Amino acid sequence: MKHLLLVHHSQTGSTAALAQAVLDGARDEAISGVELRVASPLSADAEDLRWADAVILGTPENFGYMSGALKYFFDRIYYPCLDHTQGLPYALVIKAGNDGSGALTSVRRIVTGLRWREVQAPVIVSGEVNAAGLAACRELGMAIAAGLEAGLF
Ligand SMILES: Cc1cc2nc3c(=O)[nH]c(=O)nc-3n(C[C@H](O)[C@H](O)[C@H](O)COP(=O)(O)O)c2cc1C
Repeated sequence: MKHLLLVHHSQTGSTAALAQAVLDGARDEAISGVELRVASPLSADAEDLRWADAVILGTPENFGYMSGALKYFFDRIYYPCLDHTQGLPYALVIKAGNDGSGALTSVRRIVTGLRWREVQAPVIVSGEVNAAGLAACRELGMAIAAGLEAGLF
């Protein structure tokens, strides 16, 4: 069994809706060899990351950055994980009012330090959550879970 961790934060529900679509994709009936764990960045810790064979992060863009909750997660796991999660496959979902580039840059800076591997293009949903955004998130979840199951990462 491979392990997929989803860590996401949402204040008003839109990132949570995207995260649910990621989960729906990862739970596609064609995929059977992947166990999922969902955690808030306020409580997820280094043990969750050591458990994970891949991680998907979800965050709104706040003040041109990732959410404070996701930053808090990185603040706590960075040094405990630095020597243990290098090469960890990860993917990112961002919900923003604008283009989400501030959140993207902020996450990439930290995961570059951690030496995680971005194995799928980030999904950035700008404006209202719509069918296309939900479909992209569902596809992302399915791609990561299927890739894990197939041993691609
Ligand atoms: C305090 C705060 C700061 C925000 N800053 C930005 C920002 O810098 N850029 C942006 O595109 N959207 C910004 N937004 C809009 C949120 O990214 C957007 O409303 C998002 O959908 C919220 O996600 P959530 O419903 O999962 O909490 C901000 C929202 C809040 C509450």
